[in-house]
Amino acid sequence: MSAAADPVTLMKSMVGKAAADRVVSGSIVGLGTGSTTAYAIEYIGKRLASGEIKDVKGVPTSFQAEVLAKQYGIPLATLDDVDRIDVAIDGADEVDPNKNLIKGGGAAHTREKVVDALAEQFIVVVDSSKLVDQLGSTFLLPVEVLPMAKTPVMRAIEKLGGKPQLRMGVKKAGPVITDQGNFVIDVKFDAIDNPAELEKTLNNIPGVLENGLFVGVTDVVLIGEIKDGQPLVREM
Ligand code: A5P
Repeated sequence: MSAAADPVTLMKSMVGKAAADRVVSGSIVGLGTGSTTAYAIEYIGKRLASGEIKDVKGVPTSFQAEVLAKQYGIPLATLDDVDRIDVAIDGADEVDPNKNLIKGGGAAHTREKVVDALAEQFIVVVDSSKLVDQLGSTFLLPVEVLPMAKTPVMRAIEKLGGKPQLRMGVKKAGPVITDQGNFVIDVKFDAIDNPAELEKTLNNIPGVLENGLFVGVTDVVLIGEIKDGQPLVREM
């Protein structure tokens, strides 16, 4: 673990490892996206390499997850190759007390939702800074949209009371392009009182592929935190 000094990195690493420890031989595992899940992928690879577990296949949720899985020696499969996903491990940008999530900080929420929702068990791995009382309090809600539909979708979102902004690239001129070749609109809502309803309403706007609200899909939330100076992992 190259994380020793930085508490946030340490929490992410510990919680990723805790999730990886729950993977058993013969599993088909959904591999999430982001800096926390990256540790889970690393540790699953290490457990495979050491022979502690075997016959594990990973279904990646993004280009990033695919690259990491290859780097750490996890055999990959597509949804066409498998008849089930036993467990999916993924990060989140916000987690509410009902285990509902906002995801999509890495613009990967569309494929993440497909894989995570199919899993028999969906494990979310976060550090304690991701816990909120109400979704939308700290993070804008990502919405993946077909590029040609961005303007009407933004108008429709404004009618719902949201403030949309097109996500722009870093070290890339112009907008972020998702793994599927689409745009992401980040939306500020003053309050998300009914996440289940908003999830459906947004997805019903023509041109919207998927939004980052994950409602009713999480089974387990593992939280990395520092208590009395000591890093620990607890289950919500
Ligand atoms: C990717 O689009 C996201 O849903 C990530 O899973 C989420 O942003 C969490 O990422 P970190 O673990 O890097 O915070």
